[in-house]
Order: sequence, then structure tokens, then C-alpha cells
Amino acid sequence: MEVSALFKGLAISSLSAVLTMATFGPQQAHAQTQPDTTQMPWMNKTLSADQRADMVLGQMTLDEKIQLVHGTGWGVLRKGDPVPARSNFGAGFVPGIDRLHIPDINMADSAVGIRMAALQSRYATLLPSTLGATSSWNPDAAFLYGSVIGREARAQGFNMSIGGGVDITREPRNGRNFEYAGEDPVLAGTMTGELERGVKSEHVMSDIKHYALNDQETGRTVVNVLLDRRSMRESDLLAFEIAIGIAKPSAVMCSYNLVNGDHACENDYLLNQVLKKDFKFKGWVISDWAATHSTVKAALNGLDQDMPGDDNYFSAPLKKAIEDGQVPTARLNDMVRRILRSMFDAGVVDDPPVRSVVNPFRGRDDAQHIAEESIVLLKNSGNILPLQASASTSIALIGSHADVGVLSGGGSAQVDAPGGNAIDPRPGPSIWGKPVYFPSSPLRYIQAKSPHSHVQYIDGKNNAAAATLARSSSLAIVFVHQWMSEGRDAPTLSLPDNQDALVEAVAAANPNTIVVLETGGPVTMPWADHVKGIVEMWYPGIGGAQALANILFGDVNPSGKLPVTFAKSDDQLPHPVVSGMNADHAGKTVGDDQHHEVRPFDLKYTAGAAVGYKWFELTHRQPLFPFGFGLSYTTFGYSGLTVDNVKRTAQFTVKNTGTREGTEIAELYVALPAAAKENYKRLVAWERVKLAPGESKTVMLTMNPLYLSIFDTAKDTWQLLPGDYKVLAGASSSDTPLKATLHVQP
Ligand code: BGC
Repeated sequence: MEVSALFKGLAISSLSAVLTMATFGPQQAHAQTQPDTTQMPWMNKTLSADQRADMVLGQMTLDEKIQLVHGTGWGVLRKGDPVPARSNFGAGFVPGIDRLHIPDINMADSAVGIRMAALQSRYATLLPSTLGATSSWNPDAAFLYGSVIGREARAQGFNMSIGGGVDITREPRNGRNFEYAGEDPVLAGTMTGELERGVKSEHVMSDIKHYALNDQETGRTVVNVLLDRRSMRESDLLAFEIAIGIAKPSAVMCSYNLVNGDHACENDYLLNQVLKKDFKFKGWVISDWAATHSTVKAALNGLDQDMPGDDNYFSAPLKKAIEDGQVPTARLNDMVRRILRSMFDAGVVDDPPVRSVVNPFRGRDDAQHIAEESIVLLKNSGNILPLQASASTSIALIGSHADVGVLSGGGSAQVDAPGGNAIDPRPGPSIWGKPVYFPSSPLRYIQAKSPHSHVQYIDGKNNAAAATLARSSSLAIVFVHQWMSEGRDAPTLSLPDNQDALVEAVAAANPNTIVVLETGGPVTMPWADHVKGIVEMWYPGIGGAQALANILFGDVNPSGKLPVTFAKSDDQLPHPVVSGMNADHAGKTVGDDQHHEVRPFDLKYTAGAAVGYKWFELTHRQPLFPFGFGLSYTTFGYSGLTVDNVKRTAQFTVKNTGTREGTEIAELYVALPAAAKENYKRLVAWERVKLAPGESKTVMLTMNPLYLSIFDTAKDTWQLLPGDYKVLAGASSSDTPLKATLHVQP
């Protein structure tokens, strides 16, 4: 049966059933001809990935090389486009070279779980948002996160994951912040690096994106980001540098936007000079979907693969450019070598994915575990939390579909909910632009925790009705949400749909009000002083309601801390209005084509490298909640900071001064000497410390010289300045009681 013919004229949901039954048996989709590999010296696993790649390259014809450096059309992503015969129905497909035993590349979007599983009647675990998982500050949790993605990608027949977003939170209203890892380059780079190591540990190729400075969605294909090189290297690019250093990812995806005048996918500075030369990146540069703008310029300036490929820049035109000598053959060989070595390096040639059934329970348990470390307790007045499970009380749950589910993020990070959207249960793939709730019911798990309590839900659409229920209850828990997606930015930091008024109405009716936030990133909270408890659970994933109930009732002591600053208002931000956003686009989800409706514009990032908490410190602004902040049901004390000038280590003691076991994230910041001309501190290290009541532990942290250095643009290299560095340790960026001095010798 011809897949493309089938695809046209069929609704996507019915297509999935037809395809599953009629077209693909479990293994058929990937049936590549199996050649005799005994005559193929590159199948010798004892050789290095580079050696093996070179051997294959030496056998390839020009046409075969061209075949590997571009994909074959949007396929499932754009209705009516043909789906390549061997495609696994993911976001991208590149046919392999059968005669040389080089596999197809089947790519799955997988920022927070595998996308488009429902199209094949498959299940994929929804993990907490990446920003949520970053709130754990736990590299092991990040590794686990990546390994869930790798494991499920394999089980679904994919050998490449395209996730790994690490664009830092320059624009807190960016619709994709939930896919990224926060505002600090060291935290974001470390967590993303571990995440991508987790993906590769399952023998799935990994990707880090969107390189670079793709920090907002508004006008993403036309915005020309202007930023000086020092600032770039010390902020956005540093996050990539760290993540790439840790994960050695298979690919890096260049972004839609322009940077200092050139599109990111044909930007010599970004791709050749920084990524490939300075970062020593050995994998390949893959374009974001339709982010390629030329053949010769892109090829010469560092792009290695054009995706999804239907713009034809890297197909026949590249072949012609090679034959004409406009692009040297050596450059094409370099592109192909990078792709091949990544295949050998990740293990997809030796250990290709075999379709099996995803284990939803294992995925849920992993997702819940990560969520429990990700939820951040922001306020706990009068110790309203944890709630007493044995109490017989009345609890009002209000708003955000807390009776049926938890919110997920949209766009290409959207994972399909099992059984369909919990608020509109219809099986089949998610619809672009429509918020999807996953079937993890806060009402059910809160009721289960407190069997003697009377737990009632009201939708929160009518403030007066919500207030009436709150007034007649002992406790009110208001769920508020901010749905975010690729293709749109939030017009403001305010919660949408007048939810601030809902919280105010409930808080006025019941002094025991707790707010639970399900947001993609930071939001403002004009009601913060009027409620007793505030819990940020982000988009918590398929185990979200269980994780929340465990936190609310104290079975799990919260330990997450904010990876982003929560401003009091939009006015506090370096750009009080999202650049390029006009009334037509505010808050709307736009398709890719509509991005072009925004006229090209320059976006000068005047804050330079002072992103997030650095900006707040530099400009003496007090945020609502600072970077690195999060409460626990116990308390911690800090003492005795000492610094070793030779080893560049810092040592201090953290003590659990409360009555419960808890985990504290101890943070270490450094302010550089005056010669750095940098008037803010930087996060350089941290550790999660688990402590029994009364217990103390010594924390020893190493200060990586890279994180203490400035980027010297004249010498085009990092420089560790001699002088006195102020070392600060404590519980958040705004609470660093311990101080010492690190002397760096000339
Ligand atoms: C997104 C990428 C995604 C790709 C394929 C693009 O629009 O920016 O993050 O991987 O589509 O779905």
C-alpha cells in the first residue's frame, strides 16, 4: 500500500489505526536489506568511531554522500507531504546506505518525551518539563530523564532523539522555556549535558538545540539577534559549551534566527569558529526544520545536514556545487564523516533499535521520581504545609482541570496523552495549538492521601462560586496554569485568563489558601502576600499528581529550587515588552509560515551576559522569588566557609536545623575581581545534601576555572584573571551568608 496515497484524505487519527494494522508489522517499517557484513572492515567494533567512519567514507559514491546530508521531506509533520517508505513516522528521516550497512536515521522530537507516538498507536512517557527537571539541580535526575527518552525512542524504533534544548532564559516569556534548562549557563549546561548523556547511554543518537540565541519565539525566523562576542560566550554559548563537553552529542541543531547578521545555520562564527574549532564538537550540525537558507554559504559556513530537506539546498544543488568546485569535496566528506562517526559513536550501527512495547509503569515511576525532586515550595506561611493525612477536613480544589489531569507544554515538545487529552478524551495525536492535559488527577491522589477528608472540585470559571466553596471548606487549593508552546510567547508574565482575580477571590474567602502553579516558566503573583502556600509544579509529567500529593502531604520533603528568577513585574525585565511582538501575535500560536508575517527586526540584548539573577543584581532589582530559591519542610544552616587557593575548592558545612529529614541544594557563587568589569556574581557549583534532623555534612565544591574566566575577545580565548575572587555560599542567589576570598595568582 502506498503510504503517501493513504495519508492524503485521511484524518490523522484514523490513519494511525490503518497504518498500524495494514502497513507495518512490528519490524517491517525498518526493513533494510541486510548485506553481508563480514566483508566490511568498519563493522569491527574494536576500531574507533573515527576509524570506522573513515573506512565507510572511502567506499561512498558522491550520490551516497549527498543522500546522507539531507532529509526527505516533512513527512508526517506537514499534511499531505509524502511519508518516506521506511520512515518511522517521526519528525525527520534520512535514508541509510544499505549496501554499506549504514542505517536510516529515524529522528523523534523528544524534548520531554517521545512525540507523535499516538500516530502509531504507541505510548510515550510524559516527563516533567525540562525546566521543571532542572529545578532538581540533580545531574542524576537529568541522566535518568535522558535515559527514559533513549529507552522509549528505541522501543518505538527511533535511533535519534532531537531534544536537548539549552537556550537560556533571556526572555522569561519565551514559549519554549519549558523545554529549556533555565537562565544560568552552568546549571543549564550541566543538566542538559547529563540529560543527553542519558539518551546516548541507550544507544540512541542525541542532539542539543537550538544553536544559538533562539531565546524567543516571536519572529524567530526573522529576528537578528545582536550581541557582542564576550557576552555571547559567557552566557548562551557557555551553556552549549558545557553541555557539549559533557554529552559529546551526536548532533547540534542550528536555530531559525540570525545572529549578528547571519542566519544561525550559515553562521561561520557560530558553527565553524566556535562550535567546531573552540568546542571541538565532533558530531554534525543539523538544521532546524527549514532553517537552511543557502547551499554554498551554508555548506562553507558549517552546516552538515539540511532538514527536513524539501527546500533542496543540500540535494542536487549541493552536488552541483561540489562538481563546480564551489564547495570543496573535503567539506562534503567532513559533513558525511561527522554523521557516520556519530552513528558509530552512539552505537546505532552495532546495536540498532528493535521495536518493542514501552513499559508505561516504569516510565511513570521515573517521571514521578523526577517530578518529586522538581517541585518547588515557594511559600509556606505558618507551616500550612505539609497537610495532615489523618485529618478529617474539607478541602476545596479549584481550577485548571485539577479533577482530571495535569498540563503539558505544546509545539514540537508535545507528547500525546494516553487515551487522548484528559479534558477532551478522544484517542489520537494531539492537535497543534491546543493545550493537552495528561490523565494524572490531583483530585484523585489528594483524596487518596486524605481518605477522611471531604475533597471537592470546582472548575474556577466563576470566581464567586469558587469563593463560596472555599469559604465553606477548611482549606482551599487553587490550581493556576500558564500554557506555553513553541510558536508563541506569553504576552506578559501575568497568568492568563484572569486567574489572578480567581486567586484573590479564593484567598479573600479562605485564609488557608494554597496556590499550585502549573506554568511553563516564571509568572507574576500579585496575590503572593494573600495566600499561605505557593507550590510551583511546572508541567509535572505523567506522575505529576502523585508527586504533588506526596509533596503536599509530606511523604516527600520538597527540595527543588528555581532555575529562573521570578520577577515582580514585566517592568523589571531587560525588555519589558517581548521584542517584535505586536497586537496581532500577542499570545497566539502561529504556524511556521506565519512567523514570516513578522517583519525582520534587530534584537539587541542590552543586558549582555547579565541574564536572569545577574541582571537583577546588576540593576539592584528585588525579584519576587530569586534564582536558586526553594523551601523545605525542614530548615538548614550554613557555616565555616574555607577556600583552597591552589586546588580552587570551597568547603563549608550544611546542617539540618529542623525536625525532618530533607535535602538542601547548597549553592556556591563567585564574584570576579574588578578587572573583569562584571558587577554580579556567577553560580559556579552546587551540591544536593541529604540530611537527617540535626545532622551536618561538609560540602566540598570545586571551582571549574572555565566558570571563573572571562572571554577575552582580543585574544579570542578564555582568560582566568589574577586577583581576588569573592566566594559566596548559601541557599539561593539572594541568600549567601558565607563569604571568603579566593586568590588567583598571576
Ligand atoms: C522545532 C524543532 C523541532 C523541529 C522538528 C522545529 O519547528 O524548532 O525544535 O525539532 O521543528 O519537529
